Amino acid sequence: MHITLAPMEGVVDHLMRDMLTEVGGFDLCVTEFVRIVDQLMPKRVFYRICPELHNQGFTSSGVPVKVQLLGQHPVWLAENAYRAVELGSHGVDLNFGCPAKTVNKSKGGAVLLREPETIFQIVSAVRKAVPNDQLVSAKMRLGFEDTSLAIANAQAIADAGADSLVIHARTKVDGYKPPAYWDWIAKIKRAVNIPIVANGEIWNGLDAYNCRLQSQCENIMLGRGALAMPNLAHVIRNAQAAMPWEHVKTLLVRYSGYELYGDKGKYYPNRIKQWLGYLSRQYPQAEELFMEIRALKKSEEILLQIQS
Ligand SMILES: Cc1cc2nc3c(=O)[nH]c(=O)nc-3n(C[C@H](O)[C@H](O)[C@H](O)COP(=O)(O)O)c2cc1C
Repeated sequence: MHITLAPMEGVVDHLMRDMLTEVGGFDLCVTEFVRIVDQLMPKRVFYRICPELHNQGFTSSGVPVKVQLLGQHPVWLAENAYRAVELGSHGVDLNFGCPAKTVNKSKGGAVLLREPETIFQIVSAVRKAVPNDQLVSAKMRLGFEDTSLAIANAQAIADAGADSLVIHARTKVDGYKPPAYWDWIAKIKRAVNIPIVANGEIWNGLDAYNCRLQSQCENIMLGRGALAMPNLAHVIRNAQAAMPWEHVKTLLVRYSGYELYGDKGKYYPNRIKQWLGYLSRQYPQAEELFMEIRALKKSEEILLQIQS
């Protein structure tokens, strides 16, 4: 089984990738998306989203990282994909799933699921631009409003030469509401001949089991579940127990140190609250801590409360 840590814009930054891959069980990470409009992005943009490029594209515990691109123009996506791998990204991933309004207005992300032909053009251009030894993958939802084009989109991605496809088993309209329709992944898998990775709503070992059974996929991607339970990949692989809260607290303190003294200090209060929101699903103590820091705005005050 291959387990990928999901891209999560504004949540899974390089600090989170570093920490979660050190906890372990992940084979690959995908970055937050780099939004491509009509230019070759400066190298600094890639280094900002993926500082691991300074380390040959590996997290500090040695897990490879793949840059994700989002956009609608085949030519610019291709140019930027080439740049990403040239800088050390382990292949490149294309986002056909983002539901954000601002993104969809400029025709990137899930809105492209209405246009399998455009998706074909994008993946073909990127596949041609990127050296053959670098993998090109895509990540899609089941559709925009409905699933009517799910198979056509997956076939477009496969026919255009993608090496693999992650399927988040919901439409854009479904948002993040449970359930995820894992059985739909199996339907798509039967219609395409590239490896498929199942994603969506895996929070524990039993979910992983059911997802793999229903989707007929060996390989999975974990997003919010890995934030709710930082050792989820080991829980799934080795039937490990959920990490004790005391251990989670050491991660919270460490993350605080990273975020406070790194270049992302201004985002810290929001990010730590967001992470506690996910952790509350598994740990009642996280909810208590969240209530204690909810009104705090100063990073130092939040850290003191976490350490108390
Ligand atoms: C806050 C947030 C940010 C996300 N950002 C991205 C992103 O940048 N690129 C992407 O392909 N998917 C993104 N996703 C979708 C996740 O990668 C994943 O497909 C989704 O959360 C379902 O998996 P899960 O149930 O394991 O969380 C994001 C999801 C969330 C909740």
